[in-house]
Amino acid sequence: MKTRILTGITTTGTPHLGNYAGAIRPAIQASRAADADSFYFLADYHALIKCDDPLRIQQSRLDIAATWLACGLDAERVTFYRQSDIPEIPELTWLLTCVAGKGLLNRAHAYKASVDKNLEKGEDPDAGISMGLFSYPVLMAADILMFNAHKVPVGRDQIQHVEMARDIGQRFNHLFGNGKELFTAPEALIEENVATLPGLDGRKMSKSYDNTIPLFASSKALKSTIARIVTDSRLPGEAKDPDDSHLFTLYQAFATPTQLAEFRTALLEGLAWGEAKQRLFELIDSELGEARERYQALITRPGDLEDILQAGAAKARKVATPFLAELREAVGLRNFRSAVKSANQDKKKAGKTARFASFRDVDGSFRFRFFAADGEELLLSRGFSDPKAIGVATQQLVAQGLDALELRADEDSRFSLWLDGERLAESPDQTDRQALEAAMLRLRQALATLMV
Ligand code: TRP
Repeated sequence: MKTRILTGITTTGTPHLGNYAGAIRPAIQASRAADADSFYFLADYHALIKCDDPLRIQQSRLDIAATWLACGLDAERVTFYRQSDIPEIPELTWLLTCVAGKGLLNRAHAYKASVDKNLEKGEDPDAGISMGLFSYPVLMAADILMFNAHKVPVGRDQIQHVEMARDIGQRFNHLFGNGKELFTAPEALIEENVATLPGLDGRKMSKSYDNTIPLFASSKALKSTIARIVTDSRLPGEAKDPDDSHLFTLYQAFATPTQLAEFRTALLEGLAWGEAKQRLFELIDSELGEARERYQALITRPGDLEDILQAGAAKARKVATPFLAELREAVGLRNFRSAVKSANQDKKKAGKTARFASFRDVDGSFRFRFFAADGEELLLSRGFSDPKAIGVATQQLVAQGLDALELRADEDSRFSLWLDGERLAESPDQTDRQALEAAMLRLRQALATLMV
């Protein structure tokens, strides 16, 4: 089976050279692996959370779509689409919103950071925070779970979101799966040896530092940007330290090992910075020249881009539409004609879980029995003076977790269950030691189904 790899690209801004080396190039390379089934999409619903300028949203979607295709993403091979062209995504977002714990979302880093900022300024904790920002991880969970992605390549700041997607998916499985794994548990994929490019001033290349090198500027503009890279003041002929030069780091991101070794030697031998910049320009220009032409061609034919993305959406919806229908069915949003049948199935399944049953004994005390899903009696409790106490005890038992479960073999024919140092219940008689241990195991398993 192929590994399904899925990642979203938030459509704010125009990609720069750092995005190319750090995200676009490695992702396109990964999409060519024989065992990869890749889904790449423009996360334009996510973009709306951070940006209320329609013109920028529109421009950025176009830029980013053209950039990825120009850089070699093969829309035939991968599934490439806009999030906002898949109506199943917001629908799934709602189904997931209904099972996502608010407490879970309260712990999201991005939301917490905004709250902390407000508190620092002495403002209302939620000042300026939209429900979009708060629910950001649920929308992202829908992106991922909709296509049952195995691997989700993301930056470190997004790991928590992928973990939340896994939590929410598992909770949904537990509530509505009837034993079936409706959603695959996704894993974040962090590419360790991917280049983080320095910008013109040596800090990390980032729009917020205003130190970026544009990806598809004209040759001339690229050259003049590279001329602005900050270097030390060593003169031509003086040895330069490659390991203390971000110009060298930039060169490294595009050079073959041989080119890199030659460049290193040249710097050590006193290559002038002006000449070094010329070499860096030539290197980048040769890697990106063709892609730049493709980009220019694409960006001037927005209609063609639209067709490519519509075809991508159709491909994605081949997966999403039937899967969402299954999920609607699972939660009970069913066609009335088929609803009777489905409800009967639910009932049958509902009868098939482990359960407690309390009763009044002949001595007047109240006791409970615990039954496995198949009806086997696993425990009989001690006597309680009132039925409420039974509810408390069984709740406590389920809440404590399996690790804390205390079982003692009384003889070879019976075991007892202890809670807070008190003998709470005992098993029916068993034939021998082996049968006893098997019964203990079945008890653990039955309790585990109630503990999730
Ligand atoms: N939140 C991601 C980011 O800012 C973008 C994104 C949206 C995403 N949905 C996703 C990434 C689903 C991976 C999977 O980078």
